[in-house]
Formats: sequence, C-alpha cells, structure tokens
Amino acid sequence: MYRTHTCGELRLADAGKTVTLAGWVQRSRAMGGLTFVDLRDRYGITQLSFNAERDKALCDQANALGREYVVEATGTVKERESKNKNIPTGEVELIITALKVLNSAKTPPFTIEEETDGGDDLRMKYRYLDLRRANVRKNFELRHRMAIETRNYLSAQHFLEVETPVLIKSTPEGARDFVVPSRMNNGEFYALPQSPQTFKQLLMVAGFDRYFQIVKCFRDEDLRADRQPEFTQIDCEMAFVEQEDILRMFEGLAKHLFQSVLGKEFTAPFPRMTFVEAMRNYGCDKPDLRFGMRFQELNDLAKDRGFKVFDEAELVVGINAEGCANWSRKQTDALIDFVKRPQIGATGIVFVKWTEEGLKSTVDKFYSPEQLQQWAERCGMKQGDLLCIMAGKADRTRKQLNELRLHLGDLCNLRDPWTFTPLWVVDFPLLEQDEESGRWHAMHHPFTAPKPEDAQKLFDQKDLGSVRANAYDLVINGTEIGGGSIRIHERAMQEAMFRVLGFSDEDARYKFGFLMDAFEFGAPPHGGAAFGFDRWVSLFGGRSDIREFIAFPKNNAGRDTMIDAPSRIDAEQLKELGLATKG
Ligand code: AMO
Repeated sequence: MYRTHTCGELRLADAGKTVTLAGWVQRSRAMGGLTFVDLRDRYGITQLSFNAERDKALCDQANALGREYVVEATGTVKERESKNKNIPTGEVELIITALKVLNSAKTPPFTIEEETDGGDDLRMKYRYLDLRRANVRKNFELRHRMAIETRNYLSAQHFLEVETPVLIKSTPEGARDFVVPSRMNNGEFYALPQSPQTFKQLLMVAGFDRYFQIVKCFRDEDLRADRQPEFTQIDCEMAFVEQEDILRMFEGLAKHLFQSVLGKEFTAPFPRMTFVEAMRNYGCDKPDLRFGMRFQELNDLAKDRGFKVFDEAELVVGINAEGCANWSRKQTDALIDFVKRPQIGATGIVFVKWTEEGLKSTVDKFYSPEQLQQWAERCGMKQGDLLCIMAGKADRTRKQLNELRLHLGDLCNLRDPWTFTPLWVVDFPLLEQDEESGRWHAMHHPFTAPKPEDAQKLFDQKDLGSVRANAYDLVINGTEIGGGSIRIHERAMQEAMFRVLGFSDEDARYKFGFLMDAFEFGAPPHGGAAFGFDRWVSLFGGRSDIREFIAFPKNNAGRDTMIDAPSRIDAEQLKELGLATKG
C-alpha cells in the first residue's frame, strides 16, 4: 500500500498516528539541521519534517529531493509549532521515519503553483504539469460537479442518456465538417458530428420521448476564446412538446445548476426578449444584461438639422454611459479609436456631456441647448453622464454600437463575472440571406420548423426573410450558452426547407433521405436544445476562455502542441485509405 491517507486529510485530531503519504514534492526548505518538505497530491499539501540530529541519513535523503519528485513517506502526525492558517492541514506535520523515492523528476519548465511563470504555449505543451496546479484542477472539479448535477436533473425528469455515433454523415450546423476517410470504402468519408442533431430526432421517432447526452461535437471553424474544434454539448430532445414546454424544462436545468453548483437562487422566470427587440435595443442577439446602456434611437430628434453625418444616416442611435461626463478628451478619443478599428469599421462617435455647466456636445454648432435637452431626456441622462451617439446604415451601426457598449461595460467595470443575468432570446428568423450571393441559409439549422402561421411562405418561397421560427437561445451575461428549436417532423415541409436552401431534391435525398424517410413512419412533433457545456462551466468558473476548462485543448491554430497533432501519416496508411496528399 502506497498510502494510508491523502495529503489533504490529516488534522490535529490525528496527532500521534503513524501514517503513510504519497505525492509530489512541491517545495523543500533546509534550515539548519531541519528540513521541511511540502508534499502535494490532488487533495492538498502536508508538511513533512526531517531532523538531522534524529536521523542524519534520512535528512540527507530529504535534502536530495528535487521539485516534483514522487515520494512515499511514513511518519508520525504531530502538532506544528508554527501553524499555517491558510491550509486545512496547516496545524500538523509529519515527523518522518521512512522515505522512499518512487520516481525522480526533471526540473519542470514552470513552477507548479497558483501563479505560474509558464506562458500559454509552455503550459499547453506540458499540460499534464499545468493540471497539477490546484487552481487549474479546481476547474475540472467544477466541470465534474456540473456534469453530475446535469445528469441528476435530467434523469429526474425522465431523460434517457443515449450515445449516438461519431462516425456519421454530415450534420450541418454552420461550420465545416471534420472528415474521416474510410479504409473499407475507398473514396468515401465519414463526417464527425457537428452535433447529434439528426440522431436525436431519430430517437424521437423511435419513441424515446426524452433524450440527453453530454457529448463531444466537432466543428472545423475559426477559433476564439469561446470556441474549440472539439467541444462538449449537453444535447437534449423531447417529443410532444411546444416551445413553452422546452423553455420551462431547460430553465429548470439552469436554475438547478445555479442553485446546486453556485448556491444562487433564481426564483423569478428568466426574462425573454425577441430577436427583433434584442437587435434593436442592443445590436446583437445575445445582449449582456448585467448593465443598461440600452440603445435609444434619435432619428426624429437629430436628423434634418444641417449636420450631414446625421442627415444622411439611416439610423442615429445613442447609449448613455452613466457617470462618464468627466472623461478626458484622451479617454473619449480612445473610444473613437476603438470604434474606428477595422474590426468595427465605424467613422466616429458624437459625444454629449452633462456637466455642472450643462449639456455640451461635439456638434453644438448644429443643435440648440433645447434640442440637446430632448436627446438627454430620450436617453435618460442625468448630470454626470456621457451620451455616445453613432450614425449610419441601420444594421451596421447597431452592430458597431454593440461593440462600443460592451467596451464601455468593461471600462466601467459593469461586467462582474459573479453577477448572472440569464435571458431567453426567442422568435429568431428561420432564414437569413447572404448579401452577396442572395442565397438563403438556415439561421439555426435546416431542421428548425417555421412558426405554423409562417409555414406557407416556405412552400411558396415568398417573403422568406419574414418567416419566424420557434427557435430560442439561452444567453447568460452576453454569452450564448445554448440554443434550440421546434423541429420539422413532416417530409413535405423538410423537402420544402431544403429547396429554399438551394438543395436539389436529389441532393437532399442523398444527404438527408434517412431522416425524411423516418418522418414517414410516425414522427411525433418534437423539439429540443443543446447547451455548450464548456462555455457554461467557464461562465460558472468566472472565466471567458473555455480552454481553461478543457483538460487537453487545442491552440488557436487547431493544434494540440502536447501530442503534436494533427500530424502526417505514412505512405502505407495513405495507400490503404486510397488517398494521396499534395506536397
Ligand atoms: P448550436 O450550433 O447553437 O446548436 O450549438 C449549441 C451550443 O453549443 C455551443 N457551441 C460551442 N462551444 C464551444 N466551441 C464551439 N466551437 C461551439 N459551437 C457551439 C454554444 C451553442 O449555443 N443541434 C443544435 C441544437 C439544437 O437545435 O438542439 C446545435 O448544435 O454554446
């Protein structure tokens, strides 16, 4: 037996016991004839104590230990003279009588402590060392708890956890597929699932009624802090449900997780906002409601007064930054530089300050104090506030103002990670049109049903931009945590949808014939949702980078630098697969 206890377990009440611990040397300190070694394992740190007077050979052995050596140590638990109040084992130490080195270790490339000196690349290359750090490991304890609580809730609601295959045919969710060549069927490929969408629908046809899975999904898309090429969803589907049933069920899941994992009670229903309201009032479909700065449109008060930028704009819209009237010229110039960056591409901002001297704007030439007063009233300004106004094409300007709003939220510390503002965004349009090609794309995915009152437009291919869907997203603090929809469950409707999306009937049958065939064997009305598990865990962990909550993540170039993947395969393997690579 390597150990009788863990390094996080011993307390004063254990004094006098003889115990054996096993773990890693965090640090050792030799002081005169005394040597102290901090021994670490997953559960904590315990101090080992060696005394040269008592046993010189043993003390020499301790002095020879390097950082991260793996050791087994036996000794007697004793009350410490100088106690460490910061750790639960800090009242005791172990007076060592036997020490065994189980394995030596090279000097680690960074220190394995709360604050590491390893940069991102080094941490990921030696991720197994990075994961030894308590503050990193805690992210995985959180992830584990959330997975357990998700299963507890859904299982209590009669959801069955069913595994769906990973080698499949393409399921479009808006990204590219990762594909896997087939050795037994040369020239043919499996796709890795972007989500288990079609399979969960087939499980509804199978009568499973309520399905869930905590499941890996794969998407070949550009990476960001909240995106990985392989990530995990809490994927769910229910039969015989309307949108309301689904929202209620998953609001319950969210409340359960808030309560059981973070101890936060949400008693009131989550607010809801339509997609149109979200775009109009916040310029994005996932508004961060931890702070205000709701958009206020000023067309009627600002246009046709001789100021060309506003006169020629389709939309003049402002946000009120409370308490920012005393910002310096340098600070407001920095805001202009921010929106002028190519990623945002705005031309500028008009400011109105309300100071002790009254309202003052950068366009005083064109507007009287009374007119500025009307703007201030519309925007709910008080003395001390700063109004930021942008103008231009409506959709673009809203998007640009959204970026400015979020930036101001950061600058004013209004985005506290421990304040949570959940929101359902509902009534998404079914389709969106590509400006250049004029082609229609499914806004959610091609299996989403139109609202019944808009369904005919799909068959007629008329007024497609106005077709709404029973599709919804769960947004928390400006992050899209999940989304779903009521599905099409009839062949004719699914065929009409594929036609609108530009599939030939033949192509639709080749790609999705299995699903449409299934719809002809008694498919019940159904719908569901999927939640980004990595995103949800990182939200509860107070961080925005999901990689911190994935044990072995990929870097921004899609590489795993630890195992050095992706990598080439040898000529023999390529031949077997019937493949040739260029270059
Ligand atoms: P959707 O594509 O909206 O819906 O995905 C659901 C949720 O998964 C998370 N997510 C990601 N997380 C990390 N990295 C990624 N690359 C990534 N892509 C998506 C997001 C998102 O809200 N089948 C549908 C669901 C349904 O209709 O039931 C689907 O996959 O949090």
